[in-house]
Amino acid sequence: SRDIVEYVADYLEMPFIKAWEVVTFYSMYYTKYNGKYLVQVCGTTPCWLRGSDKIKKACVELVGKEGEVSSDSISWLEVECLGACVNAPAVQINEDYYEDLNYENMIDLINNIKKKKSIKVGSQIGRVSSEPINTGKQNA
Ligand code: FES
Repeated sequence: SRDIVEYVADYLEMPFIKAWEVVTFYSMYYTKYNGKYLVQVCGTTPCWLRGSDKIKKACVELVGKEGEVSSDSISWLEVECLGACVNAPAVQINEDYYEDLNYENMIDLINNIKKKKSIKVGSQIGRVSSEPINTGKQNA
């Protein structure tokens, strides 16, 4: 909240605007409630090249407009690189990463959240860590 940012700026003996710039620049700081589930969709180049537009499309269809909290307490935001480029496209949902996404498995992820079912963390195609995609071990 603005009150907290003012407190921190005072504590650090810096102008409020400097603290506010940090809060509004970094995606790990929030200035409003984002619901029980915040889906952070990476839209940076590797994820974009691997289909992040389709991940955002799934979010719009099942959650709604970017930045708005749905009736089932889910919101989504586009963010910069999550550091999971090797398994792009990737999203972060609360504390966990979901990788090797496509439109279909993103729809499944969101629907499972809505149905309060457990969701599989990590690669959605069975890739282990950042191994090459064509090892024959994947489920896809
Ligand atoms: Fe998407 Fe790095 S570009 S995780």
